[in-house]
Amino acid sequence: MQIGVPLETAAGEKRVATVPDVVGKLVKLGFSVAVQRGAGEAANFGDDAYRAAGAQVVDSAAELWSGSDIVFKVRPPSAEEVGLLREGGTLIGFVWPAQNPELMQQLAARRATVLAIDSLPRQLSRAQKMDALTSMAGVSGYRAVIEAANAFGRFFNGQVTAAGKIPPAKVFIAGAGVAGLAAIGTAAGLGAIVRANDTRAEVADQVVSLGGEFVKVDYEEEGSGGGGYAKVMSEGFQQAQRAMYAQQAQECDIIITTALIPGKPAPKLITAEMVQSMKPGSVIVDMAAEQGGNCELTEPGKAVVKHGVTIVGYTDLASRLAKQSSTLYSNNLLRLTEELCKTKDGVVNVNMEDDAIRGLTVIKDGSITWPPPPLKLPAPPPAKPAAAVAAPKGHGHGAGEPMSARSLALVFGLGALALLVVGLFAPASFLSHFTVFVLACFIGYMVIWNVTPSLHTPLMSVTNAISSIIAIGALIQIAPPLAGDSADRPSLLILGMAVVALALTAINMFGGFAVTRRMLAMFRK
Ligand code: NAI
Repeated sequence: MQIGVPLETAAGEKRVATVPDVVGKLVKLGFSVAVQRGAGEAANFGDDAYRAAGAQVVDSAAELWSGSDIVFKVRPPSAEEVGLLREGGTLIGFVWPAQNPELMQQLAARRATVLAIDSLPRQLSRAQKMDALTSMAGVSGYRAVIEAANAFGRFFNGQVTAAGKIPPAKVFIAGAGVAGLAAIGTAAGLGAIVRANDTRAEVADQVVSLGGEFVKVDYEEEGSGGGGYAKVMSEGFQQAQRAMYAQQAQECDIIITTALIPGKPAPKLITAEMVQSMKPGSVIVDMAAEQGGNCELTEPGKAVVKHGVTIVGYTDLASRLAKQSSTLYSNNLLRLTEELCKTKDGVVNVNMEDDAIRGLTVIKDGSITWPPPPLKLPAPPPAKPAAAVAAPKGHGHGAGEPMSARSLALVFGLGALALLVVGLFAPASFLSHFTVFVLACFIGYMVIWNVTPSLHTPLMSVTNAISSIIAIGALIQIAPPLAGDSADRPSLLILGMAVVALALTAINMFGGFAVTRRMLAMFRK
């Protein structure tokens, strides 16, 4: 089968659906690949690179579409492009079936099979390698910070120079999904003070591990709407959230908004008054511009200055980093093609029994198969009893709430009493071991408490390596008895077991330290 990669026709679109590196891999899967002349030019992939990778470069869109069994695209096709698609052909790319009912009808009329990469069931862990929404959101989040830095007149990091002291920029990120987290990591990497908020409380740890501070809304309400996505919040929550955002607008230099709710217009989080209250020269990057914007004053597709604040509403952030986003996108399509062609014979099989493939197949041989039936996922863990969640502050202590002074005194009192009993009745040898044990617990607790959450995995692997101290026990067993030592030599069985123990712990020890080194290297800049 031939895979065709046309030049994207949407105004300003620089991405290309397949890069030369991936062409070679598609050829290995048994496909022939045709690329329209100049398709990768705007993303810095020349025709010669495609030819060298094994693709055929064709002159016109008509020739490409009519000659290809499968077409890889980035943006949804235009009406003209649908007209060029072969009867019964296959199209893979972004389609957004909910927003484009007319396009769906046109494609169905061509008896096409359409795989909408935006409809992939992202909850399936097997689908992650094909998740183009996540790849594109990551690129866009990074680019949003770069756009903000470009429009902002100062450094991101604080500096003390002979010419004066420069405070670090304060960046506030609204919405910590994939794009928001990428923006937090990038802004923190540039040295800014980063704060973030999301209605889904579970992202707080992720914000912290990327170097940000999670700012909570002073209102108890669960923000998760299922599948990792958000829901529309109550009016009470929205009011409390607006008060917190108003405060952040006054304090921060840059706001990047990424808040979206599937199937709903973007929540309006930044009001005109908040923009007015920001310092002159501040920047807002509204990543939700295409879905109506998180800021009242955003103009989609444009960067405008209002009340002295630059409001960037670009809707093509991923395309502004075309080489990177094309590379990631074409890898997602390659992984999908591997799933479609397990036999590696250049023929795709759209298996509707496979949950991931079923989810993203929105038209099969001309019949619309969207929306797909709900996924059968394992049942979520049981919710906490309502009483525990709703317990008002100051009464009892739920998870995460500090103990009251009375209960703390009671716990300490009981502990002291237990120690007194141990001191009075336990033998002296026990007491010395017990003291060492208590001190070890205390030091261990203090050390681990102060390690940042992002370093917990390397910490676990190094402690695993250190636990191989057990090797000393094995060495004692193997060592020949000292002169004058009356102890018997251990039996052959014990010796054998000691040698095996030594070999295994050596692997654990050296392997553990090697893994720790590699993990720590990821944190070094
Ligand atoms: P998105 O683009 O739909 O939304 C962006 C963020 O805005 C979300 O974190 C959402 O909670 C937040 N938001 C919505 N309304 C808000 C409001 N009023 N105030 C503040 N924040 C608000 O979501 P995205 O980035 O596409 O994915 C969201 C999450 O879905 C991810 O963080 C992840 O947990 C989950 N996901 C899971 C995958 C998997 O299981 N394999 C794959 C991809 C995403």
